[in-house]
Amino acid sequence: MSPIQILIKELADKYGRQRESLLPVMQGVIERENYLSEYSMVEIAREMDLPAAEVYGTATFYSFMEVKPMGRFVLRICKTITCSMKGKNQVLFAIQDMLKIKVGETSADGRFTLLQTNCLGLCHKAPAMLINHTPFTNLTPEKVRDILSEYMKK
Ligand code: FES
Repeated sequence: MSPIQILIKELADKYGRQRESLLPVMQGVIERENYLSEYSMVEIAREMDLPAAEVYGTATFYSFMEVKPMGRFVLRICKTITCSMKGKNQVLFAIQDMLKIKVGETSADGRFTLLQTNCLGLCHKAPAMLINHTPFTNLTPEKVRDILSEYMKK
């Protein structure tokens, strides 16, 4: 058995093999691998006796489930209305300019992936983004440049 097959079996043993267990099993794989590869999705389907298309459909439905390799730091900038009205585009331009990537891309060194997401529930401090699980709020182009400078040193 491959390490990923062992992990999926452990997760299925822990959460169960019913349909409702699909999300926690997928999240368990993402925590370890940073994304869901096609191989992982096929193995999850096999282990849980579900159609692979259902696993793939679930993964692509949720914006927090990535089906391609991600950078070490995943930036998710909110694209919903309050953040848009409060200057999200200027912040996004500053990020793209600094990291030399566009939305959906990963930097050549594999460190940063830039994504957009729906409302993060931080509208009162818009514009907002997450870097991995850490929220950053009241963003301005200057502030985001300072934040990224710190991450570039990590
Ligand atoms: Fe951006 Fe809610 S609209 S956090």
